Amino acid sequence: MPATTELDHRYQSAKATLAQRGQEHVLRWWEGLAPNDRDSLLTDVESIPWDILGSLIHTHVLATPTRNIPQDLRPAEVHPAEPQAKFTKKYDDARKLGRQLLTEGRVAAFTVAGGQGTRLGVDGPKGEVEVTPAGGRTLFQIFGETVLAARRRYGCAIPWYVMTSPANHDATVACFARNGYFGLPPEDVVLFPQGMLPALDFDGKLLLSDKHRIAMAPDGHGGSLKALAKNRALADMCKRGIEIISYFQVDNPLAKPFDPLFLGLHADTGSEMSTKVTRKADDLERVGNVCVQDGRVVVIEYSDFPDVYAHATHADGSRKFDAGNIAIHLLDVAFVDRLVGQSLQLPFRRAEKKVAFVDASGERVEPKSPNAVKLEMFVFDAIGLARNPLLLEVDRAEEFSPVKNATGVDSLETAKRDQTSRACRWLEAAGVSVPRKPDGQPDLTIAMAPSFALEAADVAENIDRVPKLKPRDTVVLT
Ligand code: UD1
Repeated sequence: MPATTELDHRYQSAKATLAQRGQEHVLRWWEGLAPNDRDSLLTDVESIPWDILGSLIHTHVLATPTRNIPQDLRPAEVHPAEPQAKFTKKYDDARKLGRQLLTEGRVAAFTVAGGQGTRLGVDGPKGEVEVTPAGGRTLFQIFGETVLAARRRYGCAIPWYVMTSPANHDATVACFARNGYFGLPPEDVVLFPQGMLPALDFDGKLLLSDKHRIAMAPDGHGGSLKALAKNRALADMCKRGIEIISYFQVDNPLAKPFDPLFLGLHADTGSEMSTKVTRKADDLERVGNVCVQDGRVVVIEYSDFPDVYAHATHADGSRKFDAGNIAIHLLDVAFVDRLVGQSLQLPFRRAEKKVAFVDASGERVEPKSPNAVKLEMFVFDAIGLARNPLLLEVDRAEEFSPVKNATGVDSLETAKRDQTSRACRWLEAAGVSVPRKPDGQPDLTIAMAPSFALEAADVAENIDRVPKLKPRDTVVLT
């Protein structure tokens, strides 16, 4: 139990800070709190970065930042998925270089898994959702097995960093322990929580989620760069000789974090941050638009992307702004280190959300409409700060089918369908006959584990493990 004198001292200091900021109401219930709860409340107060929050309250909470319609936006230059004939050698050389980087242990995997999975309607970590079309594998399991398969392929200890949030950290750690770290040595799996910022009401006041807790929210995946440094993950990477961080989101079961071509092109062009893009499914697809503004690569979220650009076409009728962000990035460790060392501050975004709180009478209120502002940073805002940023187009069917919603677009159903489709394509490329329906869709369900194939070319090596495929079969290939 914290010593009374120490608590008193911290209380006086917190009281002074809060008074200076017009936030004294946070200590309203102090007298009735048990010592441990007092400790929790003071810890919350002490964690608030007033140097940042003070001005954000004026610019992003009391005011809504004006969104200037981006001027002079141009489509970004993207390396195509398939090179023109004159670049075939460049791509082949890049693949070789990428494999070398993997073999030499210079690449780490980094999954951001701090989001709250609200749209999907899950309570615990999103990574625990079973997403495979058969066999009941979770997102974490797919990625864990991918790391394991890559370690075996390249014969080196690829570490895996996973960013959680305080809300799901313990549950994520328990999940990894329960699953034996998915066969990976525990010392090569590093889980750490991301930073949090208070949610504020529309008058710029802190909200209490409980009488002894301040309502906090994750500071966005842009917070991952600082979190890597703060949790000593960056130092750990340096110690291991890691030079490139392969960043991907927890929601995409088709993500290929160890792509020799992407790694090789990134290193060969001296890019500090690279991004994979895919052609948009339609003008208004809910992805970030990768463009160029004032000579810099920028990502503009679908919600901020003016219609005039979304619907713009080239003379031949094709979509002008067609590069969708699939949130798979490569970041140089030295780049992240430099940004963090220079007290990098990515821009904050204002999001109006419903946040439950304890009101002045001590009652808990569950608001029916947004009552608070959450402040988030986006990792892709770092691209504009990188030297020689590289963009690589990939085939959506091969690498992107995120699980975002409970039903419909980008749901479990579409992700399972797309995993089966990819497995079928890989099998057919290796000469396996796959039953298909008259409309061309696979007439069976196939889950192909990373241990069976990391990429299409691996199928041939394991062809003797593929049973004869019959219509309406359910097959798990491991
Ligand atoms: C995101 C991208 C969008 C991209 C799309 C591709 C943003 C703002 N937009 O959209 O440009 O086209 O993915 O699928 O990111 N996360 C954290 N901590 C946080 C917030 C999020 O770790 O504080 C993680 C989530 O766990 C998830 C990922 O970041 O893995 C994406 O977050 P989400 O808010 O779902 O972004 P999207 O709107 O899906």
